[in-house]
Amino acid sequence: MEPKPKFYLTTPIYYVNARPHIGHTYTTIVADTIARYKRMRGFEVVLCTGTDEHGQKIERSAKAAGKTPEQLTDEISAEYRALWQQLDIGIDRFVRTTEDRHEHSVRNLMLKARDARGPDGQPYIYKGTYEGQYCVHDEMYVDEPLPGGLCPECKRPTERIGEENYYFRLSAFQQRLLDYYAEHPEFVQPESRRNEVISFVSGGLRDLSISRTSIKWGIPWPDDPKHVFYVWYDALTTYMTAVGYGDDELQWEKWWPADLHLIGKEILRFHAVYWPAFLMAAGEPLPRQVFAHGWWLFDSEKMSKSRGNIALPLPIAEVVGIDGLRYFLLREMVFGQDGNFGYEGVVNRYNSDLANGLGNLASRTLAMIHRYCDGRIPSYEQTSGYHDEFPDISWRTRDVLFVQYDSYSFSSALETIWRVISGVDKYITHWKPWVLAEDPAQRNQLNRVLYWAAEALRFVALFSYPVIPHAAQRLWTLLGQSGHVGDQRFDQWQAGMLAPGTQTGDSEAIFPRLEKSEAIERIENMENEMRNPTPAAPAAGAAPAAPAAVSDKIGIEDFARVEMRVGEVKSAERVPNADKLLKLMVDIGTETRQIVAGIAEVYEAEKLIGRKVIVVVNLAPRKLRGVESNGMIVAASVPPDGKPVLAAFLEDVPVGARLK
Ligand code: MSP
Repeated sequence: MEPKPKFYLTTPIYYVNARPHIGHTYTTIVADTIARYKRMRGFEVVLCTGTDEHGQKIERSAKAAGKTPEQLTDEISAEYRALWQQLDIGIDRFVRTTEDRHEHSVRNLMLKARDARGPDGQPYIYKGTYEGQYCVHDEMYVDEPLPGGLCPECKRPTERIGEENYYFRLSAFQQRLLDYYAEHPEFVQPESRRNEVISFVSGGLRDLSISRTSIKWGIPWPDDPKHVFYVWYDALTTYMTAVGYGDDELQWEKWWPADLHLIGKEILRFHAVYWPAFLMAAGEPLPRQVFAHGWWLFDSEKMSKSRGNIALPLPIAEVVGIDGLRYFLLREMVFGQDGNFGYEGVVNRYNSDLANGLGNLASRTLAMIHRYCDGRIPSYEQTSGYHDEFPDISWRTRDVLFVQYDSYSFSSALETIWRVISGVDKYITHWKPWVLAEDPAQRNQLNRVLYWAAEALRFVALFSYPVIPHAAQRLWTLLGQSGHVGDQRFDQWQAGMLAPGTQTGDSEAIFPRLEKSEAIERIENMENEMRNPTPAAPAAGAAPAAPAAVSDKIGIEDFARVEMRVGEVKSAERVPNADKLLKLMVDIGTETRQIVAGIAEVYEAEKLIGRKVIVVVNLAPRKLRGVESNGMIVAASVPPDGKPVLAAFLEDVPVGARLK
């Protein structure tokens, strides 16, 4: 048997200073989708991800959290690993930069580069002194800070550093890189990113410091251990560690070079400029492609921990299912461009495309097969003068899908599949099997219509599998197909292979419809709970840590923990698509806070401006309908239906006064 072609793809390795959010989940789900697709195209696939654990940023985050770097990295790395498992993402290699095998591989790469010489006989790695600005957030030297010393990437203040460093002679690679981009137009994608990279490199390259002496939390430099490796040199090399670099020759030969590095656009320069230069210097083959996708935005800003506008993946998966989350992420964002994230969009997509679209077609078709054909795939006689269109359409569609999946145009691929779904819906509406069923002379036509509807569903199950693997499997089994749909090969698919007589399953709802506001509320409550977990109750049988409360009264010190202040409403507006919610900006004396209050059914936004209210100011922030609320406005809840009435003062009170 011919050996299978291989496909090795990677996600970025994620920093462990923050918990995984939708942004990280997106890249990893994209990688998993590609891996599943490639396997069905006959490739042997390795998907690698991991955690980026060294550097100043991690060192400082650990300190701020009162932990050692080891504790922090162990915790968050484990959280990433667990998340990928919970989301059923098939990770083949997981590399932590703190592993010994990785240290070995980083040194190996550097030593090969250090032993080599450029065409001018000069070394690629030399010792020098760095004087300049550094951005800790981006772990990047900043040659040209913005006015005020700000980092041009993240706009945070840079820090002055001056230290003896090992340098990488990046300047020697300008022409070689430009030649490489020209000869391999597929190397950086999409096209707009490629142009960006070419223009950056054309502008000239400065040598790059690749070691640090001011921090300890890194891989020690061989024979000069007061230096540690620059975190990006270290991080990029994980892609090699994962496939046995300097350690397992057979594996290395088989899998390197990587076929695809998937990344977000903010780390393009590291992957498309530095990385190929590091590899060229060491004489190692270059990856085949770097694909930089866009960002998920929340209110037009990049979702990121530092902006506090992140969405967590598990609460969404809990409510719309893993497939609902995957479908939304891949359908909604044009791969390569930015996309807007919102829970409303997630639930809308779920209801319209999954519950009403695919789910409805599946249960309708299976129900008719049960009613009219005893639950078995019907057979029919070919009759002259009638041409079944589905075989032609499906062959053409298959070819279109190959092109779309191969170019990672997931959104278009899903549109293509959903066009098949709506086509079959129309086909059923046109032939009205329930009318055909009333006329025995139409039996053959009834069977024909149901046969092709079921066959189209088999097509949909197969080709949607890379994106919605669990639903595809359910559908596959309901259609009486055995085994795992992911084990099928796309090139072995043929139209009309569904065997008449096959017993189908019951028409259960694959995607039950969700009530929108209730679904959003459930997501948000779970999110809030994950962000601010309530202390866990002691396990049953465990000795209580403190004596049980003897009365339900609280002491004054308990009350004093609630900080309430007088605030004044500065602006108010309705939260879109939320009947009850108003978004208020409230001056509490020391600052103006954004607070979301459930009073819109009783109070008009404009009439609240200038009004004094009582604010609980030390509540942990939470999100309501995606809008962050920092505090709570106190109101009476009036029976019988809990109508809110705002608490107020009869005398004048200054803003900021504390209630006791
Ligand atoms: N550790 C580096 C990468 C080293 S790779 C050798 C890093 N880590 S990170 O934790 O910040 O992850 C960045 C990556 O997460 C992005 O490149 C992207 O893949 C993903 N995303 C993080 N936020 C994102 C969005 N808001 N939107 C889409 N993806 C984003 O950088």
